[in-house]
Amino acid sequence: MPFGLVSAWNKRRRSKSNDHTDPWVYKPVEFWQLEDQTPQPTKRHHGSSVFTLKEMEEATGSFSDENLVGKGGFGRVYRGTLRSGEIVAIKKMELPPFKEAEGEREFRVEVDILTRLEHPNLVSLIGYCADGKHRFLVYEYMQKGNLQDHLNGIGESKMDWPLRLRVALGAAKGLAYLHSSSSVGIPIVHRDFKSTNVLLNTNFQAKISDFGLAKLMPEGQESYVTARVQGTFGYFDPEYTSTGKLTLQSDVYAFGVVLLELLTGRRAVDLNQGPNDQNLVLQVRHILNDKKKLRKVIDPELGRNSYTMESIIMFANLASRCVRSESSERPSMEECVKELQLIIYTNSKGLGVALPTFRKA
Ligand SMILES: Nc1ncnc2c1ncn2[C@@H]1O[C@H](COP(=O)(O)OP(=O)(O)OP(=O)(O)O)[C@@H](O)[C@H]1O
Ligand SMILES: [Mg+2]
Repeated sequence: MPFGLVSAWNKRRRSKSNDHTDPWVYKPVEFWQLEDQTPQPTKRHHGSSVFTLKEMEEATGSFSDENLVGKGGFGRVYRGTLRSGEIVAIKKMELPPFKEAEGEREFRVEVDILTRLEHPNLVSLIGYCADGKHRFLVYEYMQKGNLQDHLNGIGESKMDWPLRLRVALGAAKGLAYLHSSSSVGIPIVHRDFKSTNVLLNTNFQAKISDFGLAKLMPEGQESYVTARVQGTFGYFDPEYTSTGKLTLQSDVYAFGVVLLELLTGRRAVDLNQGPNDQNLVLQVRHILNDKKKLRKVIDPELGRNSYTMESIIMFANLASRCVRSESSERPSMEECVKELQLIIYTNSKGLGVALPTFRKA
């Protein structure tokens, strides 16, 4: 898939010249000299979090095709069963030799960041394996796979509007937590938020994955100018791509793109469309606040009795603000959480169904 390859290649490009001076090149959290130097509790999931290659082979039936659940830029992902009986997802690093150093860095960022974070809307890292040259990441298993597959026909059933709203809220809470700085004392920019990185468990609870590109924002610094843009086509913040200025708002832009995918059922980038319709944001941005035209872009697979137009209008308005070209005009993720709660409330009320209660998470 050429697009996937380009995306993966682009995602893994790294500046090699000034690693030791550039504050945006990955360094462990200790590097930032946090005021509170008390040791951070390291999340330990069911005891040991370090696995051997033999354990990885045993868990996946020697990486058998029947355990293969997906493939991304880092390598293949397998369903595995640990010796404890726990079902997990095992991501195997498979990179050509010239990309191994960069892959190793992403591997470390993922382990370093994820072991410090705990939130119901972030995928948990159960452990890892760094045996010789072999690298594996072991995550909690997300039975329903990624969000994009559910929106583009591969999932068993189409998601109705209340479920899409719940997934949007879950993802928003995950990003708001990363941005809040409460997790490691420094806000974290995910940098690769997209619908394949929103995973769903058996209850369709949304959890964000793939922190390999994440960046810790040094305290007091609201943006950083980087020479190389990293992420995935279709989700790039235009301000970041044109100026190299990375902010928390770059994640808000990508979140807005996912909102548009939820609303329209279309892909962020669809190379099967004509040249002017390949990019979802460019395709629909101008009609998001036009109530009449908006109806035309609603996912035709969406059950008509699962949504109210009022909630769709509010949702489209939120999405349009998230994908504004000027990053300063986009809402914060905290605001997105509040608005989505209001949209869920509005939709439930309009349909006359039991109103959901919201926990502060
Ligand atoms: N924890 C998990 N549980 C269940 N399935 C998973 C898990 N992690 C990943 N997957 C599946 O494996 C697929 C590949 O994941 P991966 O993160 O390697 O690539 P991607 O996000 O699709 O693309 P890219 O590498 O370009 O970011 C996902 O799309 C998802 O369907
Ligand atoms: Mg992924």
